[in-house]
Amino acid sequence: MKSPIAENIEAIAGYTPGEQPPAGTRVVKLNTNENPYPPSPLVAKALADIDCASLRRYPDPMATAVRERIAEIHGTTPEHVFAGNGSDEVLALATRCFVRRGGSAGAFTPTYSLYPVLSSIRDVTYLETPLADDFSWHTPDFGATPPDLFFLTNPNAPTGIAYPAGEIRDFASSFPGTVLIDEAYVDFSDGSCMELATAPDNGNVVVSRTLSKSFSLAGLRFGYCVGPERLIEAMFKAKDSYNLDAITQRLALAALNDLEWMRANAANIRSERSRLSAALVARGWRCTPSQANFVFARPPSGDAARIFAALRAKGVYVRHFNLPRISDWLRITVGTPAENDALLAAL
Ligand SMILES: Cc1ncc(COP(=O)(O)O)c(C=O)c1O
Repeated sequence: MKSPIAENIEAIAGYTPGEQPPAGTRVVKLNTNENPYPPSPLVAKALADIDCASLRRYPDPMATAVRERIAEIHGTTPEHVFAGNGSDEVLALATRCFVRRGGSAGAFTPTYSLYPVLSSIRDVTYLETPLADDFSWHTPDFGATPPDLFFLTNPNAPTGIAYPAGEIRDFASSFPGTVLIDEAYVDFSDGSCMELATAPDNGNVVVSRTLSKSFSLAGLRFGYCVGPERLIEAMFKAKDSYNLDAITQRLALAALNDLEWMRANAANIRSERSRLSAALVARGWRCTPSQANFVFARPPSGDAARIFAALRAKGVYVRHFNLPRISDWLRITVGTPAENDALLAAL
């Protein structure tokens, strides 16, 4: 019998998110790069101030107020800003808008495992460019067939490594397609490529951000991107009519009005990242120079799968990817000092 499912969807397993323990379970949760600190008190206030009766109206389909704030933060205008239901929606729309029929998307490997899934959903080819042996930058060489869209995760996930700004700039300026620089973890790093996205002569660089990590709002679902007006306009055409609900728009604006809060939490996480990496290295682990809110670490024995399971049995959740090149590594989200101590004690 003919399957009722489109071939490209039937063929894929879909994206596998990190495990979320059932509500009420007490675990040390260092597996999905959530922020261990609460969001800004301005967010709690904005939530308390929402009049339930106002929800009978549809939300602003253009998310105007929050896009204006984002434009102000990055020194650009709202026409250069798209806001989405998590940066995952931004990435999905980029795949929908910037890859032509029969075209392809590409990325380094290893990287964020959602990109190949999005490409399969769009039914386009996904081209993988291997990073260097130590996961550092390796200029892609696509020969005669470059992809229409290249996802460049910076800092990268799950390695945490940030690439040299000059290499990224040179690559983007010679790349014939769209470069989407995914800056989900940038607030924990030393630099950003946002100035490539806001440059007046930019025609092909889009930079995406999320409130899920540094702003402690993974449960809210808000992400955005900044790029050339023509590309942003295309994303507006392809989005769901009301992709951002009214509550999310209000709370995202409140969070973006308190950058100090986010920066203070990011600074604490950076300092714990150094402490955690040093403690692991002292035990013989290998750690990449992470610029994100996680460490990527290889146990001395390389038996990451066994350690992952043993930690889980002790109520400490970390992330293990059973994928080529990284199956003997663990990605460990940086938690509070007490959570990091609990991880080290469990090890
Ligand atoms: C590199 C990268 N980009 C994007 C995302 C998605 O973030 P959001 O919660 O905004 O959808 C993640 C989430 O883990 C990520 O690791």
